[in-house]
Amino acid sequence: MPAASTKPSRGRRNPAIWLIALVFCGPAQAEPELVRAKVIDFFQRAFPEHKLDDYTYGALMFRPEARKQFDDIMEFPPFLTTIERGKQMWERPFSNGKRLADCFDNGGRNAAAAFPRHDRQRNQVITFEMAVNDCLRQSQQPPLALDDMNTMGVLMSYARTLSDGARLDVRAQTPEARAKLEAGRADYYQRRGQMNLACANCHIDLAGRFMRDEIISPVVGQATHFPVFRRGGEQLLTLQAYFRRCFTQIRATPPALGSEKMNNLEYFHAYLSSGLPMRASVYRK
Ligand code: HEC
Repeated sequence: MPAASTKPSRGRRNPAIWLIALVFCGPAQAEPELVRAKVIDFFQRAFPEHKLDDYTYGALMFRPEARKQFDDIMEFPPFLTTIERGKQMWERPFSNGKRLADCFDNGGRNAAAAFPRHDRQRNQVITFEMAVNDCLRQSQQPPLALDDMNTMGVLMSYARTLSDGARLDVRAQTPEARAKLEAGRADYYQRRGQMNLACANCHIDLAGRFMRDEIISPVVGQATHFPVFRRGGEQLLTLQAYFRRCFTQIRATPPALGSEKMNNLEYFHAYLSSGLPMRASVYRK
């Protein structure tokens, strides 16, 4: 785990000093590992019967009968042809003979599990979708619009399945990376929109409760299974496209997909799921 190596030396000093430092610095300076541990601890106390890996199921983890139905559908999901189209995009050679698959080690196997990540040179959070666009540009191909589910969405519905079973590994090891993570954290807890709600109000405080006819999923685990196919498999949504949906639902203006704000938010959001097993392209009601 990141930064674990810095901990032992601290143990030898007076713990009270660290506590005081933490209180005075406030959450803005809190170590990201500590923030994540607190969120996970909150959920494990609230739902002691659930193992952390269960959180990959999202809200389905709370409803065994719905989860059974999900498992049945996932044996032969109705959107296999879409994933197949994504595979063709991933493997089709450009005019220079290179393919998207060639931009990543092992043809992209487990590639998505290492995103989002902080790029030192650009001092920017890079999502997997952006890394794919970087690859296209390197071969003089036009990048795909991040909000176009018929291109980027379809591509992701295959490319991300190449990381199925891998554990999400999101790190923030430099002060610059931590600053982006912190910006994402602050945004996640920021109340907004006509409903004056923060993401955290629903996906932490109210996780497991019903909202209209839906159970609200815990934030932990959410980043592991995108894109999803909603509405019986008809509507494909990447993670940031889903963020946009939730912004709109609380009547807040969503930031553009791929904007710094959205990327930092995804960085923090995914960081909370780091260590969990991935499974892309899942069915949602
Ligand atoms: C008013 C409550 C509410 C707020 C606030 C809210 N959401 Fe949601 N969100 C929901 C509901 C309801 C769903 C659908 C059920 C579920 O959680 O899977 C959902 C689903 C999601 C999902 C998909 C989960 C999955 O497994 O398919 C993501 C990701 C998400 N929200 C992110 C966010 C982000 C980011 C914010 C802040 C901008 C946010 N939400 C704010 C209620 C909310």
